[in-house]
Amino acid sequence: PPAEAEDHYFVSHKGFNLIRGTHDPSEVDGIRDYEVRDSDVFVVTYPKSGTIWMQQILRLIEAKGDITSEELNFDQVPWIELIGKGKEFVAAPSPRLRVTHLPYHLMPRALSQKKGKVIYVARNPKDVLVSYFHFHKFATMLETPKDFNHFFEKFIRGDVYGNSWFEHMKTWYAHTDDMQILFITYEELIQDLRASVERITSFLGKNLTDAQLADVVKHSTFKNMRLIPQANYEMVSDDLLNHHNGTFMRKGTIGDWKNHFTIAQNEIFDQVFQKEMKDFPVSFVWDI
Ligand code: A3P
Repeated sequence: PPAEAEDHYFVSHKGFNLIRGTHDPSEVDGIRDYEVRDSDVFVVTYPKSGTIWMQQILRLIEAKGDITSEELNFDQVPWIELIGKGKEFVAAPSPRLRVTHLPYHLMPRALSQKKGKVIYVARNPKDVLVSYFHFHKFATMLETPKDFNHFFEKFIRGDVYGNSWFEHMKTWYAHTDDMQILFITYEELIQDLRASVERITSFLGKNLTDAQLADVVKHSTFKNMRLIPQANYEMVSDDLLNHHNGTFMRKGTIGDWKNHFTIAQNEIFDQVFQKEMKDFPVSFVWDI
């Protein structure tokens, strides 16, 4: 097990790092037994893979492209594992739209009886690593990295919230046939947002007009999300996010890892990736 996993930021729970003060192990334990309704939708991501982006797309599809609700993304599509959110989930009216970073083995058993729907958003892990590095500089509940290389090593060891990217991805993917699940990548969203929104809409069994679809797309672009207070987490208090040190809407591109990785780091990463993902049937887009 990673030496630093159980430090003062994390408590290891059933092989997964929970964040102290943000998650409660006994509440997380309860999630396994939740009843799931057919109308429930869970967005599952490894951190920094486009969680808020998919929150935005979901809330907009639900509202048929109407952006006027002032409710914040994390209230409309909350994280199920946050303290107090489980209780809320159980009592909430349908449709219950939720996001999570949890691994498969901590999510409701009912998912494997094809109850509810899951949208798994994956992103090429080199860009995830870079985005996560920057996120650690401004997320107060996570350890500020000493430097890029130190974080690089922690990420590869899985000594972060989310644990190993490779395990998260492989485990969820291995259960594709048990669930109603849509896999979509951050890179697909970047390369064709309109087609991606249509795929998501039809997976959810929704019918939107062309004009409504166009509105969903319009309000989900990086450029616009930066300006939309509901999606932009600027109003989250300073004791959770130190806004002087970063922003959720940071760069929003494919291939920023090239500006961060040394040649040696890239070789190490490629070796680990090839070893971990050698039989994995999905390929990733690393740059454009
Ligand atoms: P970068 O740090 O590479 O810019 P999460 O929501 O899972 O924490 O992921 C955050 C990442 O998604 C950030 O990546 C952020 O910029 C990117 N992102 C959020 N909304 C986006 C959008 N509309 N278009 C492109 N990237 C977006």
